[in-house]
Amino acid sequence: MSSELIDFFNIIFRYIHVVAAIMWIGNSLLFTWMEINLLQRDDDDNLIGYMDMLHGGGVFHLQKRKLKPDTIPKPLHWFYWQSYTTWLSGFALLVTFFFTRADTLLLDASKADLPGYAAILISVGGIFGGWFLFDLYWRSPLKNYLVTGAIVWFAIVIGYAAALDTVFNGRAVFLQVGMTLGSFMTANVFFHIIPNQKKLMKALLAGEDHDLKVGKAAKFRSLSNHYITFPVIFLMLSAHFPVLYGSGHNVLILAVIIGSLILIKRMMNIRNTFKPWLAILFGTFITATAIIVAALNTKSSDAPQLDPVALEGQKVFSQIGCNACHQGANTSIAPNLQEIFGSTRTLADGTEVVADEAYLRESILESTSKIVAGYPPTMPPYKTIISDEQADQLIAFLKEY
Ligand code: HEC
Repeated sequence: MSSELIDFFNIIFRYIHVVAAIMWIGNSLLFTWMEINLLQRDDDDNLIGYMDMLHGGGVFHLQKRKLKPDTIPKPLHWFYWQSYTTWLSGFALLVTFFFTRADTLLLDASKADLPGYAAILISVGGIFGGWFLFDLYWRSPLKNYLVTGAIVWFAIVIGYAAALDTVFNGRAVFLQVGMTLGSFMTANVFFHIIPNQKKLMKALLAGEDHDLKVGKAAKFRSLSNHYITFPVIFLMLSAHFPVLYGSGHNVLILAVIIGSLILIKRMMNIRNTFKPWLAILFGTFITATAIIVAALNTKSSDAPQLDPVALEGQKVFSQIGCNACHQGANTSIAPNLQEIFGSTRTLADGTEVVADEAYLRESILESTSKIVAGYPPTMPPYKTIISDEQADQLIAFLKEY
């Protein structure tokens, strides 16, 4: 596919994906919030709860009622297209943007030597195979042990991330886990939530009474969707957080983020009945931040020993996002900078230069003055972005990289 077409799809599908996801998740969070805040009244058997909401210059008087065959309102609004559109546009983006360059966007050549189609198989297999397992798992008796079941499932997800981390680059690991969990959410809607609601409507139309139990299975799937919402949103945004996905401890960081966001959502949900909710919410945030900061400052065991200035440079390299483009292997986005110092580079105009200190400084501070052959001039000039000290640290790091 031509790069112009890839750009076109990237813009169109990404935009649709974000808008649909906002509509879906916005609805979903609002419905859960209403569910939690419904008031009870005893004088009406068919009333499950009610509430009043101020919006747009008027009061919405909302009632949640049991459905009666003779009182099925018309029109009755169903909510599923936001979910399906989110998944379909996300999958289209995956195929047109990531799969067309799977070897560089998904794989990490320094971890494993695999062809691009292997990355595509792993990605698709992870999403569809993952759903198959997830569905089987929650159909089993384990669903009766919610907390244990959820903890075991959490461990499986982290194991999945660790396995992906042996072949995918850091950014792709976060993305793939996010896509897999996000796909569970849509599949829950498609295979469980909507079919159960249809079953309920069918029974009502056949003259049977509203059986609240029919919704129970669907409700469990809604609940699991609800709790993975926050982690999925984070993982979908994580391409902007190279400091996290680029860390040697990225899987640990991923585990902390998923676990703490689920706990934080739980605290938000039980705030009306659980007094210390705010303390636990902030405690979770502080603990998670502390673990992540500690992980970012701990070298992974296979990291080379660097001198203190180079070590600072290594931090700057991920903090300001150099590694978002320079990924430890030649990619279509940017050249590999490993062992760059002293090597000969070919520039776009055909000349050859030796990457000495002056070249590195110029490449970073005035990146548009010399362009490496085969690459677009997309690197921003860092002259006004970083301090002289940071430039020295980066160069010290690149000399030993
Ligand atoms: C938006 C993506 C992007 C970011 C972010 C980025 N670069 Fe680059 N970089 C490139 C591209 C593309 C090239 C090759 C084209 C060129 O020479 O400008 C390049 C080239 C270089 C080169 C010369 C490489 C060679 O093969 O001779 C160095 C050195 C370099 N970058 C260092 C850095 C450092 C340090 C940072 C962070 C401060 C950084 N880059 C951030 C995209 C990026």
